[in-house]
Amino acid sequence: MKKIRVAIFASGTGSNVQKIIAYFKEIEKVDIALVVCNNPNASVLTIAEFYGVATLIIEKEKFFKGNGYADELKELGIQIIVLAGFLWKIPDALLKNFPGKIINIHPALLPKYGGKGMYGMAVHEAVIHAGDSYSGITIHLVDEHYDHGKIIFQKVCEVQPGDTPQLLAERIHKLEHKHFPVVIENFIQTIAGNEAV
Ligand code: GRF
Repeated sequence: MKKIRVAIFASGTGSNVQKIIAYFKEIEKVDIALVVCNNPNASVLTIAEFYGVATLIIEKEKFFKGNGYADELKELGIQIIVLAGFLWKIPDALLKNFPGKIINIHPALLPKYGGKGMYGMAVHEAVIHAGDSYSGITIHLVDEHYDHGKIIFQKVCEVQPGDTPQLLAERIHKLEHKHFPVVIENFIQTIAGNEAV
C-alpha cells in the first residue's frame, strides 16, 4: 500500500513534532517524510535527525517571494502539511498547491487569542491576564489569515487559580501531545476517504 507522505513545519523546540513522529512510526499507512524548518539552529532539527526524518531548511525570500517551496514539496511527494509551532505565515502559493491539506495547532481556544503576534507565551499571558477560567487547544485548517481557517478540533482545560503562563503552557502542551497525533490521523483518513490525496 502506498503511504501518505506528510511534512511537518516547525520553528522551535519541536515537542509536538517528536510526539507526532513517534506516533506515526507505528502507523503503517502514514509516512512523516519531512521536517521543514526556517531556523537552522532549532532543536526540532535534532529531533528529526534522531528519528531519521529528512529535513529542509527554508529561506525567507524564497518562501514568500517564490512559490513557498511548493515544487520541492511536490517533488518529495508531500501530500499533507502539518504546522506544529511554525511561526511564518503560509504564503498563497503554498495554500494553492495544498488546498485544504494544511493544518495548524494553536495553544488556545480560537477564535480567541489568535492572530499576528499571538504565539508562545504571549497567548498564555493573555488568557491569564483576561481572567479566563478555561483555555485549551485548537486544530484548524490553514487559510490566508493567521489562526483563522475552519476548526476541526478543540479541547478545553481549566485555568487554575494561581496559574502562571508557564504552568498553563505545560498543561496545554500535555493536551497537544495527547490529541494532535490522533487528530492528524483522523484528518488524513477523512481526506484519503474523500479523494485521491
Ligand atoms: C505549541 O504550543 C503549538 O500550539 C504552537 O507552538 C507550540 C509549539 O511547541 N503553535 P513545540 O515546539 O511543539 O514544543
